[in-house]
Amino acid sequence: MLTAITRALSPAIVDCELSFLERQPIDFALAVRQHAAYEDALRALGTRVISLPCLPSHPDCVFVEDPAIVLDEVAIMTRMGAESRRGESESLAAELGKYRELRWIEAPACLEGGDVIRVGKTLYVGLSRRTNVAGIQQLAGLVQPFGYWVTPIEVRGCLHLKSACCYLGDDTLLANRQFLDTDGLCGLNIIDVATSEPHAANALRIAGTVLIPESYGETRERVGSAGFQVRAVDTSELIKAEAGVTCCSLVFEAD
Ligand code: GLY
Repeated sequence: MLTAITRALSPAIVDCELSFLERQPIDFALAVRQHAAYEDALRALGTRVISLPCLPSHPDCVFVEDPAIVLDEVAIMTRMGAESRRGESESLAAELGKYRELRWIEAPACLEGGDVIRVGKTLYVGLSRRTNVAGIQQLAGLVQPFGYWVTPIEVRGCLHLKSACCYLGDDTLLANRQFLDTDGLCGLNIIDVATSEPHAANALRIAGTVLIPESYGETRERVGSAGFQVRAVDTSELIKAEAGVTCCSLVFEAD
């Protein structure tokens, strides 16, 4: 069944990593309610949610997408570019290891799950602040035996590849072309985010429905007009932590 691993927020999120955003006060109680509503939205779409306890001393621990990449055949534990986040991996690996064989990215490579987009057997990987060439090369070596092809994509002006674009399924990408050159993503139709919503490219398709933050109404309308079922989720406090809707879950099929 469709399964999502999530993790409870740490109160330390107010001191989260920020790379391209100015720090703004985060309302922790509201962030917790929004995260619970996000988990409810996943459940409403038929997903079993496995919620891990928070790691109090890891401000970004709620963003479970980054320490791992889950494929049908294997899961890759990343070595995160943000040193402060590396302690998030161990307990996630303990849970993920119940569902997939694990492989590990080793130093000096850096790679974060937010930089990896799967389209069929192609993995597009962002060369970003958090993912380096060695990370992309190690990933390619680990997934090649399972028939995956890795294509690097340079990311500029935003945190991860998934901050710049996300795959919605049906050969369609939601993208902000200011953050990447889409020529490397051949054969995909592109829906551009609204100019006034530069961070709206991070969207999560679950069971045929695309989750897009409440605050990105114009982009949501564009995605809906392109024929996708869309659902708004309010993630205003998580957005202040430089996060999107994909960051808060690891979604995969599991028995
Ligand atoms: N605050 C999200 C990250 O920088 O990883």
